[in-house]
Amino acid sequence: MSDEQQPTEGHGPDVEGLRAEHLTFPPPESFARNATATRALYEEAEADPLAFWEQRAREKLSWDRPFETVLEWDPPFAKWFLGGRLNVAYNCVDRHVENGLGDKVAYHWIGEPGDRRTLTFADLQREVSKAANALKELGVRTGDRVAIYMPMIPELPIAMLACARLGAAHTVVFGGFSAEALSGRIQDAQAKLVITADGGWRRGKPVDLKTAADEAARACPTVEHMLVVRRIGETGTSGKAPAPAVMEPGRDIWWHDIVQRQSADCPPVPIDSEQLLYLLYTSGTTAKPKGIIHTSAGYLLGTSLTHELIFDIKPDDVYWCAADIGWVTGHSYIVYGPLANATTGVLYEGAPDTPGWDRWWQIIDELKVTVLYTAPTAIRAFMKQGEALPAQHDLSSLRLLGSVGEPINPEAWLWYHVNIGGERCPIVDTWWQTETGMILISPLPGVTTTKPGSATFPFPGIAADVVDNEGQALPLGESGYLVLKEPWPAMLRGIYGDPERYRATYWSRFPGMYFAGDGARRDEEGYFWLLGRVDDVMNVAGHRISTIEIESALVDHHSVAEAAVVGKNDPVTGQAIFAFVTTKVGVDSADALGRELREHVAKVIGPIARPRYLLFTPDLPKTRSGKIMRRLLRDVAEGRPLGDTTTLADATVVESIRAGASASDDG
Ligand code: WTA
Repeated sequence: MSDEQQPTEGHGPDVEGLRAEHLTFPPPESFARNATATRALYEEAEADPLAFWEQRAREKLSWDRPFETVLEWDPPFAKWFLGGRLNVAYNCVDRHVENGLGDKVAYHWIGEPGDRRTLTFADLQREVSKAANALKELGVRTGDRVAIYMPMIPELPIAMLACARLGAAHTVVFGGFSAEALSGRIQDAQAKLVITADGGWRRGKPVDLKTAADEAARACPTVEHMLVVRRIGETGTSGKAPAPAVMEPGRDIWWHDIVQRQSADCPPVPIDSEQLLYLLYTSGTTAKPKGIIHTSAGYLLGTSLTHELIFDIKPDDVYWCAADIGWVTGHSYIVYGPLANATTGVLYEGAPDTPGWDRWWQIIDELKVTVLYTAPTAIRAFMKQGEALPAQHDLSSLRLLGSVGEPINPEAWLWYHVNIGGERCPIVDTWWQTETGMILISPLPGVTTTKPGSATFPFPGIAADVVDNEGQALPLGESGYLVLKEPWPAMLRGIYGDPERYRATYWSRFPGMYFAGDGARRDEEGYFWLLGRVDDVMNVAGHRISTIEIESALVDHHSVAEAAVVGKNDPVTGQAIFAFVTTKVGVDSADALGRELREHVAKVIGPIARPRYLLFTPDLPKTRSGKIMRRLLRDVAEGRPLGDTTTLADATVVESIRAGASASDDG
């Protein structure tokens, strides 16, 4: 562990946070009366965590063969519900149809241009079965991997469930990633099929995905076929006809050509509890993203149980998690958790500001949404537009609000509470990660008294703690590192193809404990306050991005000698990407190069990684052992007084950076 991984001044609780500690919101009585979760859950789970998980697994999931062993724990490798067999798609779709819920809406889908589709559970069963038969025809078998690179259209969850129906694993790659990023993920997963679309709508424009998928597939010998949904070709509402997708004969096939003619009968394949359900790539502290492994039964239990209790799900709820399915939030809380609970959900394809900044409030009003789950960065973006826009719509159907992705500042919390929640909706601030699969720290609505900015307490059965540098539990009131001391059902099972890296990344910092990479503090009442990442991972608009990944993209450019990237605090996106770049001798560091480098990063990783600030500097501050001191660069980026500079090899470097120039701002 490097000296960079200490909680730094910039990550400490701010003055506002300290004040908010004294602001408390007890659950409204009317909510508490009907709440699904009860305080007794904590005691039950604490008394015997394994019995708690076991009972829920038997109750909530439908098994083809019941499991024999709840947990086999050979640290850091966990196996849950051994001996059991089930099918995840059956649990998410078919059993609800069998139980008489075939006509219940599974998804209300709204396309950005305004087109709509409603899928009932019976529709979903038919579409998933047909898609699964099409995958079979294309050679997909139990145990294979399928890469999915799609916009937010119904075919995305359908494709995921079709994989699950066959016992094949998917790896969904967010549509905002570049061809190169997609290619790396396809290669690592050795996917044999890519499912994509001719594009999706974003801010009134078609966004091409097929061209990027083609470029990605060129370097991927494992890819046998590409299945393409026509989304843009037939909408054309903007009046501009985009160039039609180019199909490669023999490899590419249109979704409507192969799926429509399939039989709607496709028996779900019973698979082992620990069968791979999906891989999801996430940024870590190195340049290469990690393929996080999630398996079937434990993941489905963890996501469906937390979804039911934390979002207080009732049969008539209209639940909207406004994330993109390309991230873990979408996997767990748009697809698997809600569908396993037979919940009616909302899927919206586009941007929150299109055609206007009240698009979401319009959707809530129209569909009578009852539960909304979103990210602080979105809330802050809405705040900037003022309270008049939500006030123009009837949001009285809402009864519960959720937040995820980064610490929510009390100001945003209060704005959300007042302007969206009408001061009547409890807010659940949910802490979790791609790796944890399910929410681990969150209020239970109707039970927990909340404090703006605190994720409050671990979910029943979850052993979270805050420890010091040596792994010793800290007394209440002190800041340290967030760890998990016991395994949980939806936890990652490893990093695809790299068990050593799994051990080193998560389990070596504090032996016997899972290290989340987040700083945390518990207040005098035991509430957890998350303090942000303590490693080289940034959180930009709720997206996890590694500083090192961007640095390696920058130095990959022929003009760049060296680069260092830090996160700069940003009032809307949480953090903004700030790049310090040293060019090679003789290269003119002009505006044009700044633009070129930003483009280059967008091409290598994706537009979400494009540096907002870029500063050319003659040198970078380094320790005597040659390590770049990002802590000092963060000080420069924030315009703060410099911290300790005594370990610098050349103490004049930072001052000269600071004096030299101001960064160009791309915002
Ligand atoms: C951060 C997203 C504070 C945290 C589900 C974590 C949060 C990282 C919260 C995981 C929260 C997520 N309060 N911080 N409620 N939720 N985080 O993998 O730093 O995209 O480690 O998963 O987001 O990001 P990931």
